[in-house]
Amino acid sequence: MDNYINITTPIYYTNGQPHIGHVYTTILVDVYKKFYELMGFHARMATGTDEHGLKILKTATSMGITPQELVDKVSGSFKSYWQQMGVSFDDYIRTTETRHISMAQRFWEYLVQKGDIYLGQYDGLYCLSCEQYYKESELLEGNICPIHERPCEHITEESYFFKLSKYQDQLLDYLQSHPDFIQPAIRRNEILGFLENEQLQDISISRNTFDWGIPVPNDNTHVMYVWFDALINYISSLGGPESADYKNYWTNTIHFIGKDILRFHAVYWPAMLIALDLPLPKAIVAHGWWNIGDKKISKSNQNASMSLAEIIDRVSIDGLRFYLTSGLSLERDGNFDYHQLVDTINSNLSNNLGNLFNRLIVLSSKYFGGVLDYVQHGQEVDDEWTEAILKKAYELRQQYIESMTRFRHFEALGNVMQYCALLNEYITTKEPWKIIKDPQRKNEVLLVLSNIAEGLRWVANLIHPFIPGIANKMNNSLFHQDGFEMPESFSRGRYEVTNNEVLFQRLVNDA
Ligand code: MSP
Repeated sequence: MDNYINITTPIYYTNGQPHIGHVYTTILVDVYKKFYELMGFHARMATGTDEHGLKILKTATSMGITPQELVDKVSGSFKSYWQQMGVSFDDYIRTTETRHISMAQRFWEYLVQKGDIYLGQYDGLYCLSCEQYYKESELLEGNICPIHERPCEHITEESYFFKLSKYQDQLLDYLQSHPDFIQPAIRRNEILGFLENEQLQDISISRNTFDWGIPVPNDNTHVMYVWFDALINYISSLGGPESADYKNYWTNTIHFIGKDILRFHAVYWPAMLIALDLPLPKAIVAHGWWNIGDKKISKSNQNASMSLAEIIDRVSIDGLRFYLTSGLSLERDGNFDYHQLVDTINSNLSNNLGNLFNRLIVLSSKYFGGVLDYVQHGQEVDDEWTEAILKKAYELRQQYIESMTRFRHFEALGNVMQYCALLNEYITTKEPWKIIKDPQRKNEVLLVLSNIAEGLRWVANLIHPFIPGIANKMNNSLFHQDGFEMPESFSRGRYEVTNNEVLFQRLVNDA
């Protein structure tokens, strides 16, 4: 099933509202989903919420509501953000849904029968924010969690364990023979190093001190550990191993995650799948963090002066999407800076792309009544530029596909912006507003504007995954295409201006 692809976000905890960190992963997944659509794939995107565990129970209790009330509210809020942001998810999975609960219980029973789950005693240090046990050696002085910088709790309890240790060699073999399974390379090396140097311990996968979780089959004193059930969402979302979606999509699945949850996805989840006798997904792609003041953006560390809603309100959805996807490779962390955001989108969306598009619309309306319909009469007058624009368009497409296939979206987007800069150079060099004064040369102006229109049609298609709102505006104003597609041939057509609103309003950097 080569032209099927399923791309997933992690499912987000419902103990707080979405922030820039969540937006980043979701937008990245949406960019790749839309890219694969351009490429003609059956592309599917799944996202959703992770609704069990102690953290959520404690938040609900402190708010004086039931955990179910809390998760209903927060899950709805995540979903409506994604809808508002133009994210085209195909499934929104919640771990409190029956389809997921029954899948997690079924998988649990399978592992019990296989002898991979056993009852034991857990004694360890737990970070509530990570919902994860740590070894003392992994913590900062005073048993402080290195990610949340909060003390871990000492927990001793009866627990079911998953025999992770049994799968160490198989995992290592798999990673060694599948170099693209974990990306980028820096993350693959991290996991390889971990598997080569550490003896894997069995992991605790149940809790018996609270009941906000999926009941363990045949033991009503335990609920499943939130991470055990959460990872299974990726298969519940497809309808389980017998479903047609699973058959088409499962081995073509890419999990996008933040580097904070790499070990769960690159060690625990593959081991669970091997134990379940199921194939592994295609790849796990981990990105870095957005920080504020060198600390990861989180529920408690956000831009204090501006909420996510306010940021969107000020810079627009496309503005935020552009900023988050244009500057960072997956390997790097970024510092979220409002002023830099405004500068980035002003120079790219308002100056570079926006001005060019609006200029084209204005000149086309003024000189040609809004209709560009170039017909070649013998030799073209500006062969050189025409050639350059055309050649660059084909190069751009090839580079774009290569970059996107290697998860270098920032590079793909950067190249599209450079192409816009070239089109800008073309128009300022040719100065059609001067040539038009000579009535003999009207056709030459028509050629310049048509070349730019065709170049911008390519741009609109290629930026659609990143900034769908702007691509749609361009389409509605001038191209009137039926959806977006990977442009095939650079051939000037007929372009008719039907709308002349400004493509992207320049922002004032005033916050
Ligand atoms: N519920 C788990 C995931 C289970 S997946 C089977 C979880 N949820 S979370 O809400 O805490 O965050 C999930 C993801 O949000 C992170 O992995 C990451 O993709 C994204 N981010 C959260 N904060 C982030 C930043 N500050 N920067 C970038 N991404 C971050 O973990």
